[in-house]
Amino acid sequence: MPWQLALTVDRDSPLPLAVQVRNSLRRLVENGSLRPGTRIPSTRQLAHDLGVSRSVTVEAYEQLAAEGYLLTKRGSGTTVSEPPASQAVPTLVAPDRDRESAGALWDLRTGTSDIAAFPRQEWIRCLTAVINDAGRQELSYAPPAGVPLTRHVLTGYLGRVRGVRTRPEDLMLTAGFAQGLALICQVLIDRGHTALGVEDPGHPGEREFITSSGLRPVGIPVDQDGLRVDLLERSGVRAVLMTPGNHFPTGARLGTDRRERLIAWARAVDGYVLEDDFDSAFLHRSDRLPALQSLAPDRVVYAGSASKILAPALRLGWLAAPSELMASVEHVRSGWDIGCSGIEQLTLARFIDTGALDRHQRKMRTEFHKRRAVVHRQCAAHLPGTRLLGRDSGLQAYVELPRHLDEQALVRAARNRSVLVRGGRFYTLADTTRPPALVVSYASVNRAELSRSLAALGEAYRELGGAAR
Ligand SMILES: Cc1ncc(COP(=O)(O)O)c(C=O)c1O
Repeated sequence: MPWQLALTVDRDSPLPLAVQVRNSLRRLVENGSLRPGTRIPSTRQLAHDLGVSRSVTVEAYEQLAAEGYLLTKRGSGTTVSEPPASQAVPTLVAPDRDRESAGALWDLRTGTSDIAAFPRQEWIRCLTAVINDAGRQELSYAPPAGVPLTRHVLTGYLGRVRGVRTRPEDLMLTAGFAQGLALICQVLIDRGHTALGVEDPGHPGEREFITSSGLRPVGIPVDQDGLRVDLLERSGVRAVLMTPGNHFPTGARLGTDRRERLIAWARAVDGYVLEDDFDSAFLHRSDRLPALQSLAPDRVVYAGSASKILAPALRLGWLAAPSELMASVEHVRSGWDIGCSGIEQLTLARFIDTGALDRHQRKMRTEFHKRRAVVHRQCAAHLPGTRLLGRDSGLQAYVELPRHLDEQALVRAARNRSVLVRGGRFYTLADTTRPPALVVSYASVNRAELSRSLAALGEAYRELGGAAR
């Protein structure tokens, strides 16, 4: 079969042909154009297509196989292998996600929303209306910071539900929280920052992302009242990324005193707080404080995302930044892309304006609350001696285990019973003082599945002597 590759060689280049072929192929693998498992042409066919001698392509393939980019198997040709770890594109999705999930029945790992509950019909209705109404302007390029209507609607919405104090001009639509984080990291680097404070425990994908952007993540421990602001003050960093509303993954909420002290710190060091408000939509009213940003719009960058409230595939997020910072964010972004899909942005605006987002969130909040009750019930029944930390809402439960239990052994034993779950250590950067724990996400399993998976987890727990002390 004639597999085609978008490859050319330049005969006027001083680079040897084999090096050109190798470099071009490597680039296609690294930028994701050739995905792991993709079959590529034989050396003979590629040599023929490029009009070069076969020794050129053989040399290039051999080199790439030695570097781990290609896999050659007798009888089944040459395929693209998994990229070497150091070359992997950083992502906020935990690196083990897809590899581990094969064959498991229940997935209690964090990192996703309830995709099955995505309000397809409502979204389609809004999308259809947007496309029907779209004129020349709507179908053309929007300003890179976002469609004006969507920025206007989101400004009102975030003010109403989260107390965010911003203006449409200071709000930017991004390709998810990930792009917002990348933009802020670059702006901080441009302003002389070399490090960014992060919560410990926290999101390992975010730490990787920050490192790859050129900043050093500095772990700041978290206790039952959220980030230890006293330790932040001593850390030497001048900016911090955090989840003050519902700490990821322990569920601690930043106390009122600490909020004030945090803002005072940001002012004193002429720094910034990046507030990742990823799941406030699913907190009970009694667990929800207004966004930290409402206390200091001049020091806090507020970041939200559609990934948890709707679906990650939308790749829609938003940043509300202090005006003087937003100018720099826009400057950086202008060198990266020319904005997100205007059609998706307009659909989101309509989704908010018609009340569909409020309805969907209310429904999901109630559902997650019921799932949380299942976690309580099943932990009491099957995991005696464990303790649930944090506020009683959100998308995941942090289950502290008895000190004597081997967390990793429990994760493995759960895997053997078809339950995918992560231990607390997965989220830890350097703080090793915490007792062993499991982080149980109930975002993507229904109540019956959750109940069964926790019973199976309980068997693994008993097998390891979890209930013994
Ligand atoms: C803590 C946290 N913040 C934010 C996000 C959303 O990221 P994005 O909008 O890039 O999908 C996630 C997604 O898993 C998350 O776990």
